[in-house]
Amino acid sequence: MTVTSLKQKSPFVTDLPIDPDKLPKHIAIIMDGNRRWARLRGLPETKGHQAGAKNLENVVNYCRDIGVKHLTVYALSTENWRKRSVEEVRGIFGLFIDIFNKWRKDYRTSGIKFFVLGNFQAFPFKVKTAIKKCSNIVLDNERIRFNVALNYGGRDEIITAIQNIIKDKIPAQDINEELVSKYLYTTGQPDPDLIIRPGGEFRLSNFLLWQMSYAELYFTDILWPDFTPVELEKAIYWYQQRDRRMGK
Ligand code: FPP
Repeated sequence: MTVTSLKQKSPFVTDLPIDPDKLPKHIAIIMDGNRRWARLRGLPETKGHQAGAKNLENVVNYCRDIGVKHLTVYALSTENWRKRSVEEVRGIFGLFIDIFNKWRKDYRTSGIKFFVLGNFQAFPFKVKTAIKKCSNIVLDNERIRFNVALNYGGRDEIITAIQNIIKDKIPAQDINEELVSKYLYTTGQPDPDLIIRPGGEFRLSNFLLWQMSYAELYFTDILWPDFTPVELEKAIYWYQQRDRRMGK
């Protein structure tokens, strides 16, 4: 075996000079543009969601491989679920079941710890079961915490936190940022450093409203199925050029 073949292969996919010691600890992504991606190709919208799901797998694996410790994706907002057609939601749920079952099969070797943010109790039984079987499993070899926001809304999350703080009879003087953070779905996880929205819109759509306080925001026209690890690496490079003063 030659010396070169013994060298560890770089996990990075572009020639950008990424600093591996300054990676965002937590990246959050609003996956937008699946249906437009399909329409542009004359395909049914379900194909766009399938392509989005395939891209998601690649992105999670890439984040794990480069050493990002937390990834959160917005997969279905409370509004998406309420306002989209029954057929579309059925298609998305079918996709969730297939993917969650696949992740469950791979979890021992993947190093990916899967976790849901949001209230999925009202989802159909099959979807709930698929989520429960693959989420929150303790891993010896955890390399990345992967949060999927499902039936998630940032305001709902804050309201639920307030309700639980009141139920727990916490005295007013003990309520501070640290305590509120503990009552959120993301309890115990760092706030996102980098929030990415592909798909051409410039809004946050009720995503991680509390947690985004000091996040860097990256917007791009690229549609989610095309937002590959190459594009993500460009976003990480952009992030590394930011001067994060955090109020200083
Ligand atoms: C937004 O694009 C996407 C969604 C509402 C669904 C996201 C779902 C996936 C990527 C499937 C896989 C996810 C998991 C967690 C298994 P859009 O439909 O709003 O697209 P548009 O902006 O072009 O209309």
